[in-house]
Amino acid sequence: MISTEKGSWLTPAIKSQAEQLLSRMTLEDKVGQMTQYDWGFNPINPETGVSQRDLLREEIRLGRVGSIFNLSGAEEANELQQLIQDNTELRIPLLIGRDVIHGYKTVFPIPLAQASAWNPELARKTAEAASRESMADGVAWVFAPMIDVSRDPRWGRIAESIGEDPLLTSDYAKAWVEGAQVDDGPGLAAASCPKHFAGYGLAEAGRDYNTVDLSDRVLREVILPPFKEAVESGALSIMASFNEINGVPVCANPYLLKTILRGEWGFEGIVASDYNALQELITHGVAGSEEEACERTVLAGCDMDMHSGIFIRHLPKLVREGRVPESVIDQSVLRILAVKIKLGLIEKPFVEAVAPEAAAVARAGFTELAREAARESIVLLRNENSLLPLSKDGQSIAVIGPLADNSKDPLGCWAFDGKPEDVVSMLAGIRQAAGASAIQFAEGCAIADASEEGFAQALEAARQADVVVMALGESLEMSGESRSRTSLDLPGAQRRLVEEIAALGKPVVAVLLSGRPLALPWLEEYADAIVQAWHLGVQSGSGIADVLFGDYNPGGRLPVTFPHNIGQVPIYYYRKKTGRPPAGVYSSYYIDSTTEPLYPFGYGLSYTTFSYGPVVTSRTTMKADGVLVAYVMLENTGCREGEEVVQCYVRDEVASVTQPLKKLIGYQKVKLAPGESAVVSFSIGAKELAILDGDMNWTVEPGDFTLWIGPNASQGESVSIKVER
Ligand code: GLC
Repeated sequence: MISTEKGSWLTPAIKSQAEQLLSRMTLEDKVGQMTQYDWGFNPINPETGVSQRDLLREEIRLGRVGSIFNLSGAEEANELQQLIQDNTELRIPLLIGRDVIHGYKTVFPIPLAQASAWNPELARKTAEAASRESMADGVAWVFAPMIDVSRDPRWGRIAESIGEDPLLTSDYAKAWVEGAQVDDGPGLAAASCPKHFAGYGLAEAGRDYNTVDLSDRVLREVILPPFKEAVESGALSIMASFNEINGVPVCANPYLLKTILRGEWGFEGIVASDYNALQELITHGVAGSEEEACERTVLAGCDMDMHSGIFIRHLPKLVREGRVPESVIDQSVLRILAVKIKLGLIEKPFVEAVAPEAAAVARAGFTELAREAARESIVLLRNENSLLPLSKDGQSIAVIGPLADNSKDPLGCWAFDGKPEDVVSMLAGIRQAAGASAIQFAEGCAIADASEEGFAQALEAARQADVVVMALGESLEMSGESRSRTSLDLPGAQRRLVEEIAALGKPVVAVLLSGRPLALPWLEEYADAIVQAWHLGVQSGSGIADVLFGDYNPGGRLPVTFPHNIGQVPIYYYRKKTGRPPAGVYSSYYIDSTTEPLYPFGYGLSYTTFSYGPVVTSRTTMKADGVLVAYVMLENTGCREGEEVVQCYVRDEVASVTQPLKKLIGYQKVKLAPGESAVVSFSIGAKELAILDGDMNWTVEPGDFTLWIGPNASQGESVSIKVER
């Protein structure tokens, strides 16, 4: 039965209520709870004219469905819940899910953008807002956060991630799970679903769904920490990933789902498969039939079958044949029932329509939060001659590019419930800030086709302006699931447009709206200022304008390395030294490229400047179980208030196994007024210094360590400390 000593949410009362329900269930009832379907998938049988939804309604009436996702709203949710209440004896409500990845109707910046704020508490707020908004539509299960560490910008789903670092991703995982799991009582609660467990972000060649092959060391040092944090934060479910890890697809991988997730971490929530992943075991070639796929996944620890229908078609027979013990089914069903009880669904299966006035008030609050999140997600990459911030008056501005008068693409990937009409485009934001009269607009070219027809109009607009602001980047369809790219350049004719505009000799600001890092070393030749603005959601234009005109001083920092070129990929900051660090021939280098990034992890500029004093430590030696404090004096040496993300990195100089050149062990976002100074300190102990030693144990090994405290992974003052035996 479910153990209750670990799970904070799993109280004895919930457990006994779940067991009481289970005791009244038939085998078919039980397997029905383990079955989930996509309501959005609704083909119609050409012969019979019967739709998939008609079939699903019947399945629901028969108690053969435990969860449904992709409904259209509260009315449909209540309709399906009513089918349960009217037709099943046990009346166990459906668990209604949705991909609420970065907002619901109020779309917030994509997760990779929110990660650029280095502000998990802000993500907590956006996650809570998203759950509150989607709960009003009957959604009790959000399939978020996505916490796959990713090092490869070719992979379209990097847009949904928190980037390349395990610590930053872990901090966001905690905040997102706690924010998303609203609990205002029965019928007003939501479950999170951290995903995709595990290793999906290391797909070979950045090609989505591709093979993942990695050592237990990388798995445990890099990939798993965010999920462990999510579990310890009380996540009520986890989604197993499509990919294989070392030859075994995760939804059939007992090492991950049982040994680690249940055995080592004591996870008590639901393990859901990803979409049709059970069926894909046959495609992977590790199951010769649906029955075999069914047996492998349920015995490996998968509780919920997303959309394949394999559990409901085969589990009862496998149990009756003794190939799957009914106790295994009971364990899975108890977890599902416990979550439904925890969410208050049993008491309140229906969603109460929120009064329009109340909904409007809530949405207004979310809009301000969306603008705050948009602003904080922006990273200033270049600002020659302090071109930015622009003046709101006395300057004529030409806004040029395919992402300017564009209200669709700033929504970003996974924003199905957002509407372009709710988006403030970059052009609208600039016009709102600087007044329409001073603004010329020309699209110049499309996002992805080679036509240069619009160049002439764009050049004419630029000639009449004092400064040109270019809106460049990717469409929302170029990132997200199944959107891997083999190029990290601007698509279509955008680069040509930049070259033509720059030839006029006007100051140029390039604003990049993309779902991934782009490799644009050439852009610095043409743009005096470069702003990474990702896909920022409904308040995209307002956030961008706040930064361009200085109403907000950008404090964003890159959560992922920006490469010089695609040939460097994968490139990430905590790479190993190797026996031949890059230095030229016969070293680990390229004959045709630098090995350095274009912009390093943690990089970002401000409209002010900061100076770092030397790194000081409370002591220079410590015991393995000791603690010391490392600190710097940070000063705002510029002329306006600003935020600096002070980052602390460590390197274990000599260890039993090779160590990364640097590993982020702490960061603090500090706001200082002009001329103001502050001591920024980091406590350094076992948590920060431990490594996974040769025996795969977390250990603080004696020896020399180097600590850095600085503005990004490539810069910073350092100090040496020693851990004594
Ligand atoms: C998709 C995604 C997963 C999503 C699920 C339901 O294929 O991999 O992130 O939650 O299916 O839409």
